[in-house]
Amino acid sequence: MRTEHPLDAARPARAATAGTATAVAHPNIALVKYWGKRDERLVLPRTDSLSMTLDVFPTTTRVRLDPGAGQDTVILDGAPAKGEAQRRVTAFLDLVRERAGMSLRAVVDSRNTVPTGAGLASSASGFAALAVAAAAAYGLRLDPAGLSRLARRGSGSASRSVFGRFAVWHAGDADATPRDADLGSYAEPVPADLDPALVIAVVHAGPKSVSSRAAMRHTVATSPLYAAWAAAAGDDLAGMRAALARGDLDAVGRIAEHNALGMHATMLAARPAVRYLSPASVTVLDRVLELRQDKVAAYATMDAGPNVKVLCSRADAERVADAVREAAPGSRVVVAGPGPGARLLHGGG
Ligand code: ADP
Ligand code: DP6
Ligand code: CO
Repeated sequence: MRTEHPLDAARPARAATAGTATAVAHPNIALVKYWGKRDERLVLPRTDSLSMTLDVFPTTTRVRLDPGAGQDTVILDGAPAKGEAQRRVTAFLDLVRERAGMSLRAVVDSRNTVPTGAGLASSASGFAALAVAAAAAYGLRLDPAGLSRLARRGSGSASRSVFGRFAVWHAGDADATPRDADLGSYAEPVPADLDPALVIAVVHAGPKSVSSRAAMRHTVATSPLYAAWAAAAGDDLAGMRAALARGDLDAVGRIAEHNALGMHATMLAARPAVRYLSPASVTVLDRVLELRQDKVAAYATMDAGPNVKVLCSRADAERVADAVREAAPGSRVVVAGPGPGARLLHGGG
């Protein structure tokens, strides 16, 4: 007969939800970008980066352990994930299983509300939600930094979506052993005396033809401008932290726009060039310049895709949104603000 361990009574009951967990996470937009890895397998970046997590476009992900299944099942937006998308999730679950000392396969069901692969950070909300849900389903107990390190292995930018509002992702020590480098590379919250708006112009919602992962690898390998951009990242980060701390929207915007345009310059100088900006993106950039001439503090940032995000004050957000709508007719314009970190909705292993 099995004797009860005295601690069992104090443990939460393993009810019908054991092995099933659901989490939600939001995308984040970097104000100082991550562009370039020093270690592809561990997803270690070459530079520190800093972002704002959004209060729009949540991803909801459920992970259910599937006893008896010989492989994982991955459903993205209601359809089975294929190719690279399926492989990335399975590789991520393999890592979670290795850490949990379990071999059970899982069913992952994830819904994005952000367009997938459009430069609006679906990989950030996607892997932050998956990290939180999978850790809970497999019974891994991780603190926020541990969740951030785990999310990083799925997609670098996901390390920052574990946290709400503003977060910095530390690159970690480039000379450390792999184990120490892994431990040193995680995100954490950044103090900011600022509650800005980010006006998002969705000029093309379709998926990019080159993933962020492939584009940054190609840029690091072939762009003569990459080293100069990366060398400036430290100053950009220090300036950004100070500007956020003193609530200086103009300085935050100036640094963010400069850092993003510089990142796109590194891609344009790659061989062959990677160009994500479309004519509609450039039209929005022109409109942002005009707004500044009209004394509206508005600054643009763009990621690996054609969609432009415009940083401004909450008070100016509607005016900026109208200007962007007029500049890029047919685009969907969404006004976002700083949003919450990733969280478990229910369940746990
Ligand atoms: P984005 O600009 O949207 O972040 P990326 O090229 O970085 O574009 O990543 C897109 C890829 O991220 C998708 O092709 C898919 O592999 C992965 N991804 C996106 N959303 C999810 C999700 N909810 N769950 C798991 N993987 C996701
Ligand atoms: C331009 O995090 O999507 O959005 O780590 O390979 O998944 P992987 O790349 P990802 O790259 C994001 C690049 C960026 C800038 C940023 O978010 O910092
Ligand atoms: Co991404």
